[in-house]
Amino acid sequence: MASLHCRHFLLLHLIILTATSLPFPLEQDTPVSRFQQYLRIKTAHPEPDYSSAVSFLISQAQSIGLQYRTLEFSPGKPLLLLSWIGSNPSLPSLLFNSHLDSVPAEPSKWLHPPFSAVRTPDGRIHARGAQDDKCIGMQYIEAIRNLKHKNFTPTRTIHVSYVPDEEIGGSDGAAKFVHSMDFENLNIGFALDEGQASPGDEFRVFYADRSPWGLKIKANGRPGHGSRMYDNSAMENLMKSLEVISRFRESQFDVVKAGKAANSEVISVNPVYVKAGVTSDTASGFAMNVQPSEAEAGFDIRLPPTANPEEMKRRIAEEWVPAIRNMSYEIIEKGPIRDDMGRPLMTLTNASNPWWLVFEQAITFVGGKLAKPEILASTTDARYIRQRGIPVLNFSPMSNTPILLHDHNEHLRDTVYLKGIEVYETLISSLSSFIEA
Ligand SMILES: *[C@@H]1O[C@H](CO)[C@@H](O)[C@H](O)[C@H]1NC(C)=O
Ligand SMILES: *[C@@H]1O[C@H](CO)[C@@H](O)[C@H](O)[C@H]1NC(C)=O
Ligand SMILES: [Zn+2]
Repeated sequence: MASLHCRHFLLLHLIILTATSLPFPLEQDTPVSRFQQYLRIKTAHPEPDYSSAVSFLISQAQSIGLQYRTLEFSPGKPLLLLSWIGSNPSLPSLLFNSHLDSVPAEPSKWLHPPFSAVRTPDGRIHARGAQDDKCIGMQYIEAIRNLKHKNFTPTRTIHVSYVPDEEIGGSDGAAKFVHSMDFENLNIGFALDEGQASPGDEFRVFYADRSPWGLKIKANGRPGHGSRMYDNSAMENLMKSLEVISRFRESQFDVVKAGKAANSEVISVNPVYVKAGVTSDTASGFAMNVQPSEAEAGFDIRLPPTANPEEMKRRIAEEWVPAIRNMSYEIIEKGPIRDDMGRPLMTLTNASNPWWLVFEQAITFVGGKLAKPEILASTTDARYIRQRGIPVLNFSPMSNTPILLHDHNEHLRDTVYLKGIEVYETLISSLSSFIEA
C-alpha cells in the first residue's frame, strides 16, 4: 500500500513537473500543433539549431514509417533526407526540398515573439519561418502521412530533403549536396522547392531564379590638395564609373517602368556601398581638403537566366571599370548561371515539359488557380538543382496571403496551411504516379 501510494505520488509529481516545465501548455497532436512545434525550434542565423530541427523531423518521419538519413557536407551542418520508396524504384524519383534555416528576426518589432508560433483567434500563426519555409517542410510530411493513411502506394520513389544554410547562400548545403554521389544515386527526375506567398486568389509558381553577383570596383589615383582640379584622381575615376553604371541601371529599370518586363526579368544593379576619404578628427570624420588615392564601391547585381554572363563581364571590364582609368574590380559569383550542359538555368513551363503538365493538372484538380509562371526576383537553392539539368518549380501553396518572407510579423493562416497539405497530397500522388509515354 505504502509503496503504491508513494508511486502514485511520484507519478503525479512528475506529471506536474513536466507540465510546468514546458514553455507552452500541452496541446493536442494535430497538423497545426506539429507545425507550431517545428516553428518553435530556433533555426535563425547566426546560430541555427540544426540538431533540434533534424531530431524533430526524424521523429515525424519515424511516426509515419519513412526512411531517413542525415548527410553532412560541412561539420555541424546536417542535411536530412527522407525517402518513401516507390513500387518502381528504377524510375527517376521526385525531390521535395526545403531549408532548415531562417533569417534572424528583431523581436522588439514583432507583435508576438518570433519563435513562439502563437496562433491568434483569427487563425494566424506568427513565427519566423512560417512562410519561409517551414510551412512546406511540414506540409510535405503531413501530405505523405495522409497518403499513407489512405494506403496510397507511389510508383516513383519520393525524397524529401531539408538542407542547411540556404539563407546564407547554400554553399555548405545544397551546393555541395547536388555534386555528391548521394545526390547522383537518388536519380531525381523532377523537384519542387520553395516559392512565394500570393496576396491574390492564384498560386504563384516560378521557373527560374536570378543569379546574384557581388561587384566591387576600386579606383586608384593621384592624391592631392582638395583645392586643386587635376585629372585622374581616384574619386574622379570612381564617379565616372558610377555614371556609366547608373545609366545601365536606368536602361533596365525603364523597361520595367514601361511595363515591358517584370522586375525579375531584367538585370538589376543596385549600389550598396561607397568607401573613400581620408579619415580625420574633424566633425565630418574626414579630411575635407585631401583628395584620396583610393575609392571603392560595391553593387548587388542579379542576372535573369536570359542574360548573357559573358556579355555582362565584357561590359564591366570595358565600359564600367576600364583598366586604363587605373581601376580594378572583383565579381563574386554566388552560384551557377548555366547548367552542366551550358543551358540557361530555367525550367520549361509548356507542353515540352511533361512534369509541368502533371503539375498544372494537379493544381486544377484541387481547385487551385495558377498565376502566369514567373522568374523569382530573389534566389533559392533550386538553382543548384537546375544546374544538374533537373527541372525544378518553385512553389509554396500560399494564396490570399500577404508576402512576409524575411519581414517582421511573418505569419501564415491555419486554413491556408491546411489547404496546402491537401495541395501536396494531390501533387505527390499525381507526380509519383506519372509514367512517361
Ligand atoms: C594611373 O595611375 C598612375 C600612378 O598613380 C598615374 O600616373 C596615372 O596618371 C593614372 N592614370 C589614369 C588614367 O588615372
Ligand atoms: C516550350 O518553350 C521553349 C522555350 O521557350 C520552346 O523552345 C519550345 O518550343 C516550347 N515548346 C512547346 C511545345 O511549346
Ligand atoms: Zn526560403
